[in-house]
Amino acid sequence: MTNPEVIHDPSELARRVSELKSQGKTIGLVPTMGALHYGHLSLAIAAKNDCDVAIVSVFVNPTQFAPNEDYDQYPRQLQADIDLLSQVDTDIVFAPSPEAMYPRGFVSNVHVGGVTTRLEGSFRPTHFDGVATVVMKLFQLSQANVAFFGQKDFQQVAVIRRMVADLNVPTEIIACPIVREADGLALSSRNKYLSAEERKTALVLSRSLGYAKELIHKGEREAAVVKAAVEKMILDEGGTAIDYVSISDPDSLQEMTRIAGNVVVLLAVRVGKTRLIDNMVIEPA
Ligand code: PAJ
Repeated sequence: MTNPEVIHDPSELARRVSELKSQGKTIGLVPTMGALHYGHLSLAIAAKNDCDVAIVSVFVNPTQFAPNEDYDQYPRQLQADIDLLSQVDTDIVFAPSPEAMYPRGFVSNVHVGGVTTRLEGSFRPTHFDGVATVVMKLFQLSQANVAFFGQKDFQQVAVIRRMVADLNVPTEIIACPIVREADGLALSSRNKYLSAEERKTALVLSRSLGYAKELIHKGEREAAVVKAAVEKMILDEGGTAIDYVSISDPDSLQEMTRIAGNVVVLLAVRVGKTRLIDNMVIEPA
């Protein structure tokens, strides 16, 4: 267990990183918005295993939240996050202020087309510009050799991969598996918003993904049939509203009609006021 070095100032991070790089160290970056749980820690552990120096950023990025979303409410607990990261030997925690990341006069934006237009992008039209822009800034500041993202945000990984390919960013992207509670609920900082009752309701997300897998493994090949079954299971639960259920190609994220190769089933469901996402990649047996 080592206490991480905590850096708030972006130019201080850049200076520290160039020092480490001049010593020949490789840098692994884990971008987060804090309120850390084991899903985040699994990424920090991967960064520590694969690279000489593990940097975890903790920054609730205002530009990826729409005005009607939960930016103000989003949990902030930096000291608890630092304590958790010390347990997985993270070397540097980068926790900048919004003013330091977006100083007066800031007007630039990274826009990724294509893959951002569907799913999360159609419900949150400004979200991925905010994500791409902040992640690009974090890549620049950290000079990361490798960056670690969770499959929990499946479309986010696709957006970052596209950005890195299109803009010749020399950072390797590694996607890590979804970490779940024993009862199937995918870990999320937003699970903190759920009442005990809503938490039970929220189990329908992972349960319906399991059901989709069962149907596909039993030979169902019509995406519409699987999708309707998943939607019915979610709505039958009560207290839920569906933003989308999608059966997509895991590479292109285009909607599929016939299930031939691997598919990813993606869900966005509101449980009470809390919007949750989950997904599962399914190989037909
Ligand atoms: P945040 O929601 O804090 O997530 C940070 C990283 O942790 C993301 O890569 C996310 O996919 C991963 N993660 C979250 N829950 C997980 C789980 N249950 N299992 C595995 N990984 C999980 O995603 C963001 O922040 C932001 O958009 C960010 C990339 C930091 C840009 O602001």
